[in-house]
Amino acid sequence: MNNKPLIVMWGSPFSGKTIATVKLAQALAARRKNVLVIFSDALCPSVASIVPQQVSEQQSLGELLSLPALAQEDLLRYSLALKGSPHLAFLGYKKGDHLFSYADYSRERAVDLLTLARHTADVVLVDCASYVSAYLLSTVALELADTVFRFHTCDLKSMMFYASYLPLLSDARFKHAETIPILSNVKPGQDSRTYSQVVGGIRFLLPHVAELEQQALEARLMDSLPSGKDATAYQEGISHMMGLIVSEDTQKPHQRSVSAANKASIVRWFKGQLWSWRGGRK
Ligand SMILES: Nc1ncnc2c1ncn2[C@@H]1O[C@H](COP(=O)(O)OP(=O)(O)OP(=O)(O)O)[C@@H](O)[C@H]1O
Ligand SMILES: [Mg+2]
Repeated sequence: MNNKPLIVMWGSPFSGKTIATVKLAQALAARRKNVLVIFSDALCPSVASIVPQQVSEQQSLGELLSLPALAQEDLLRYSLALKGSPHLAFLGYKKGDHLFSYADYSRERAVDLLTLARHTADVVLVDCASYVSAYLLSTVALELADTVFRFHTCDLKSMMFYASYLPLLSDARFKHAETIPILSNVKPGQDSRTYSQVVGGIRFLLPHVAELEQQALEARLMDSLPSGKDATAYQEGISHMMGLIVSEDTQKPHQRSVSAANKASIVRWFKGQLWSWRGGRK
């Protein structure tokens, strides 16, 4: 089994991490990569507000983390295969969960979960809580990640967040110097140039898109973005992110004549795996 990329989205509160996670996952899935998205924030469970129509099918990440033992079959059972998005599965806390809903889990359990996830999907995306130290899974994801996208917004609140938080992540295990800073939700009139200079190392930004705000408000983040200047610029930002985590080959828009191996959707793949683990019994 090969370790597949573990990508972490982290940064200041309300900076667009969850929205960008969904859009990046969709872009990867459109290239027929099987993507498992782990929403590690228990403060505001996200899955129910992204795919409200599947809320009754969802099982909780919290429950999975506190099982007595963890096997790949459990990971598959708790992951929500998305209807209409055959290469995408979500794993996160359920609507109504809170920090005390489940028993505590150990660091080893968080490592096991992420390791199993990397053996399961082509790409694992972890949408982290800003307040990482409150969530062990977020902390461990930051340590194990191949790529960390670090979200900043062009405002003083984001600067204050980093002034407080960066010292906590200065430990070598977080490889902070390798994280990729992004200016996110950049609004017209905001001085992104000055903020870029202050933050340093900004290679691209994700602009504010009115329709995206509307999608988030109306629990429609799985909808595609209509064309338009801002939406196009946002998609370019997402493509840039994708280019940093997958090979050139995957960047090519998918064609119908793909290889047989690539045709397997994550749903069929999940079912196939489960079937083989049950000894061939349906
Ligand atoms: N590019 C964008 N265009 C328009 N609105 C955006 C954009 N990015 C973020 N927003 C706005 O910011 C809000 C927060 O976005 P999101 O939930 O993705 O942030 P977050 O960083 O995950 O927040 P949290 O820290 O609470 O997890 C959205 O509901 C939306 O209103
Ligand atoms: Mg979020």
